[in-house]
Amino acid sequence: MCWTAAWPPRSHPVCDPPPLAPKTYHWGCLGPCLDHYAVMGNPIGHSLSPEIHTAFARETDQPIRYTAELVPLEGLTAAVTAFFEVGGKGLNVTLPFKQAAFRLCRRPSERARLAGAVNTLWCSPDGVFHGDNTDGAGLVRDLIGNHDTRLAGLRVLVLGAGGAVRGVLGPILEERPAAVVCANRTLSNALDLGRDFQGLGLVEVCDFSGLAGREFDVIVNGTSASLAGRLPPLPDGILRKGGCCYDLVYARLPTPFVQWGVRQGASLAIDGLGMLVEQAAESFFLWRGVRPRTRPVIERLRARNESFAASIGT
Ligand code: ATR
Repeated sequence: MCWTAAWPPRSHPVCDPPPLAPKTYHWGCLGPCLDHYAVMGNPIGHSLSPEIHTAFARETDQPIRYTAELVPLEGLTAAVTAFFEVGGKGLNVTLPFKQAAFRLCRRPSERARLAGAVNTLWCSPDGVFHGDNTDGAGLVRDLIGNHDTRLAGLRVLVLGAGGAVRGVLGPILEERPAAVVCANRTLSNALDLGRDFQGLGLVEVCDFSGLAGREFDVIVNGTSASLAGRLPPLPDGILRKGGCCYDLVYARLPTPFVQWGVRQGASLAIDGLGMLVEQAAESFFLWRGVRPRTRPVIERLRARNESFAASIGT
């Protein structure tokens, strides 16, 4: 493992930046040393992150390697600490560790604090763990940048009130929709969510029965129902004709929610593959200060015959 001690400070609107690593050469290395990045999760075999980040690195000529690490359920602190102690440059964390990763960070970004979850970590030279949550930025970039769908001024319905929704709600509210409603199976969880985000904008909460007779331009499914091949109990007619349905889960076949959106007349009904690639690009940018092109990676993953299991997050 090779080290670089560089820490060129630069300003970032979201949080303190990780060190921008220059290419470093060491005695005994034949070429530039590769900075090590990884994703930690359990399970982790399904993760597309190594493939995505390797593609970004190749395209931007960044000297990095990116691996997937299976971490025991009680082992996150030890794994993260050891990774950075031996010179690791940056981490993604995925299920079930995003909340635990947040608790590990002494310097979480504002959007990580709001989400109560971290998916991107780095360590400053003084040994302090910094964390950010790039999921919501990934969703908004995919919707707006890749699908030409704005949120500003529209009526947005978000389904669910768990960790995935907490990760995306702040960036959705920042787009200034006309209204945001969060509907969840368990009303008390939705009420907690509404309370936690009340400083960012008005979030109306209800259970699924409270949706009857209402109409939305954009519906984001942040429940984990699709992972079990299920659909939340949604009344017909709540999607404006030509509206947009977005499932945070990605899968090889259309998820039950994406199929529902098509039946309801959505002009755009998509899963979260684009969000997955965009949140990875946001992490890459935080670590390396370079923004990779995402479209070729999304297109290649989408076109690939090889199946990947239904999943959510990195
Ligand atoms: P994640 O990190 O994926 O968000 P989570 O924090 O456990 O996982 O949250 C899962 C969300 O999906 C919750 O909002 C959950 O609803 P409850 O608060 O009632 O548990 C929702 N959910 C899970 N399965 C569902 C189903 N079959 N129908 C509707 N909502 C479901």
